[in-house]
Parts: sequence; structure tokens; C-alpha cells
Amino acid sequence: MKTINLNLTGRSYPIWIDYGITDKIVFLLRSYKNTKWIIFTQKSIFKFWNNRITSILDSNNIDYKVIFLEEGEDAKSIDSVSRIYNELIQIGCNRETIFLGIGGGVVGDTTGFIASTFMRGISYFQVPTSMLSMVDSSIGGKTAINTSRGKNMVGSFFQPKGVIIDPDFLETIAGKEIFSAMSEVVKYSILFDKFFFSYLNKNLEKIIERDQKTLMKIISKCCELKANIVSIDEFDNGKRKLLNFGHTFGHALEFNSNLEIDHGQSVAYGILFATFYSFNEKKLSKKNFDKIFNFFKKIHLPKLKKLKFSSLLSLMKNDKKSDNDGINFVLIKDMGQPYIEKINDEKIIKYLEDFYEHISYKWTKP
Ligand SMILES: NC(=O)c1ccc[n+]([C@@H]2O[C@H](COP(=O)([O-])OP(=O)(O)OC[C@H]3O[C@@H](n4cnc5c(N)ncnc54)[C@H](O)[C@@H]3O)[C@@H](O)[C@H]2O)c1
Repeated sequence: MKTINLNLTGRSYPIWIDYGITDKIVFLLRSYKNTKWIIFTQKSIFKFWNNRITSILDSNNIDYKVIFLEEGEDAKSIDSVSRIYNELIQIGCNRETIFLGIGGGVVGDTTGFIASTFMRGISYFQVPTSMLSMVDSSIGGKTAINTSRGKNMVGSFFQPKGVIIDPDFLETIAGKEIFSAMSEVVKYSILFDKFFFSYLNKNLEKIIERDQKTLMKIISKCCELKANIVSIDEFDNGKRKLLNFGHTFGHALEFNSNLEIDHGQSVAYGILFATFYSFNEKKLSKKNFDKIFNFFKKIHLPKLKKLKFSSLLSLMKNDKKSDNDGINFVLIKDMGQPYIEKINDEKIIKYLEDFYEHISYKWTKP
């Protein structure tokens, strides 16, 4: 078992990673054995894992209750969360209760949000089951729900007590979710470690085939990189902002497509947009530009429909990285050398038009 510590003064927590670690969950959380456990998950996940999880809890006499969140991003709505608050009161939860979010990023974000607000804060654990949640969203304590006007617009920083990563869960995940998560994985490599980028480039086939050793390596590497950043800048005031690479454009695209383009695919386009901008502003070399575009060619992104650039711009402005003078974008000078630049509206629109043309007419040509 690999253990990575996320160091925060007084609130450090472990990230445990191993195949089969789910079977040790009661041992890992042994100090909570006599409290009530609330498991937040989704039916689409639990249909595969119900027996495995409940048999461990039953055989250890854990007092638990499973609460099913809605499917997809609907789980992250205020209405859905409000229903859950009432259910928790009805069940008789108190401040000793612990929450476990067993699911992908949607379950993790929602569980964290409920934990941070219900009774002014409940201890919770992240048990990520999708690739994206294992490499990114389960770590760092960003919790969020959506509003009808934007994704992740309401949330908090609220750290879990621990993260339990069992890559066994990836057995039942759809192939497209692995592709989709690769955007976040590649994000880490471009931002912080060019050798990791080369490793991903060489081992993409093995990742897609879910080779255990390769998955262990990339999940551990991403967790280490994220834990390091979060321990330096928990509240997103400095270095952590770099993790927004690809996300300003990505969130806007995801929302604009009515979530037809999923989070990972949208972030992939966001990374490409940032790469396109950095190259055309003469900050990034052609060699690196090609490396990044060629990598994403292998990931089969959905074709972009005609975009309304002004709508994308206003969605980007709703994101949390803008002020009156423009939007802060994370860009790159080289692999491992990110920087932040504020770009004004006029320039963003021009680059959106050029980028769309590049993506739609040049890049996709064989
Ligand atoms: N908090 C953060 O720091 C952070 C970072 C990145 C993304 N996010 C959020 O994460 C969400 C995206 O996460 P995601 O890609 O995991 O999406 P997701 O949670 O919607 O999961 C993707 C799909 O896979 C299914 N699934 C998950 N695990 C499964 C398993 N083991 N077997 C079978 N099916 C399984 C889910 O039911 C869903 O249909 C977005 O809401 C995004 O905003 C948060």
C-alpha cells in the first residue's frame, strides 16, 4: 500500500492507494468503528460494488446507511442537496457521524459540500471510484455544487480526514471515463513534470488497457503532485491557481454544451486553447505545441459544434478567475513552466475564433 501525506498544519491527512484496499476500510477507519457511517454514492456505481462494500461493513458490525445521490451533475444541485439535509436529520445524524463519498468527482464534490455545511461540519472520507476522482478531485478539499448559471459556483474548502483509493473500482468504469480523466493527468505533467509527460505519451496504450502497474504509477504521481501543491497553497491564493490550467475555458465549454461534452473532454479543449494561445503569443515552442496537440489527438475528443464565442466569454467571466479588467488564464512557456496572464475580452474573442478554426479545419485533418 502506498501512503501519501497531505501536510496541513494540524489537519494533515493520508491518501492511501492500493488495489483491494476497500477490504481494509474498517481497519483504516478503525477509530470511527463505533460511530454511524453515511455512505453517499450513486446507483450506477453501487450496482457493481454493493455486495463488496456492504459485506465488509456488515461483517464488521458497522452502523451505516447508504444514501443515493442523483445521477450525473444533477446530484450537485441545491434541490438535491436540500433533500439530503432533511434525510440526514430524519436518520438522526449528529456531529459524530462520518460521511464517506464512494463515487466519482460528482459524488466527492457533493459529499464534501454536504459535510462542510451540515451541522457546521462533519468528518468525511473520500473513496474515489472514477479515474478523474482518483487522480484529482478527491484530493485537496474543494467542495462544490452547481447553480443554474454555472458549475461549481457554490462551495467551500473543507478537507477530508483521509482519501482511500482502490484502483479495483476502475474495472467497471466506462472506457470513455479513462480517456476523459487523462486531461487532468496530462495537466499535471505539462504543468510540473516533463518526464511524466513523456511517460504518459509512451504508456497511453497500457493506461487504456488498465494495466495495474501503470495505473498505480500514474495515480500515485498525480496524488503526490496535488498533495504537494495543496499543502503549499490550501486556499487557492497562489500556486494552486496553476491547477486551473485548461479549466477556465473547460468549465465554460462544458456548461455551454449542456454538459454533453464532459468535464475531462472540456478540460482537454481548455488545455489545447491555452497551448494555442501560448504558442501564438510566441511563448511556447512549436515542438511543445505539436507534442501537446498530438497527444490529445490520440484521446478522441468529440468534435466541437459551432460555438457562440460571446456566450463562452460570459461563461468564462462567471468563473472564479476573472475581474473587471479581464480573465486570468494559466498558460505555458515550456513543459514544467506555467505562468498566469490576464487577457482582455477583445483578445479572448479573437483567440476563440482562431482556435475554433484551427481545431475544426486544420487539426482534425489527417
Ligand atoms: N473538487 C475538485 O477539486 C474537482 C476537480 C476536478 C473535477 N471536479 C468535479 O468532478 C466531476 C467530474 O468527476 P468524474 O469525471 O469522476 O465524473 P462523475 O462523478 O460523473 O463519474 C463519471 C461517471 O462514471 C460513473 N462511475 C464512477 N465510478 C464508477 C465505477 N467505479 N464503476 C462504474 N461507473 C462509475 C458515474 O456514475 C458517472 O456516470 C465534475 O463535477 C467536476 O466539477 C472536482
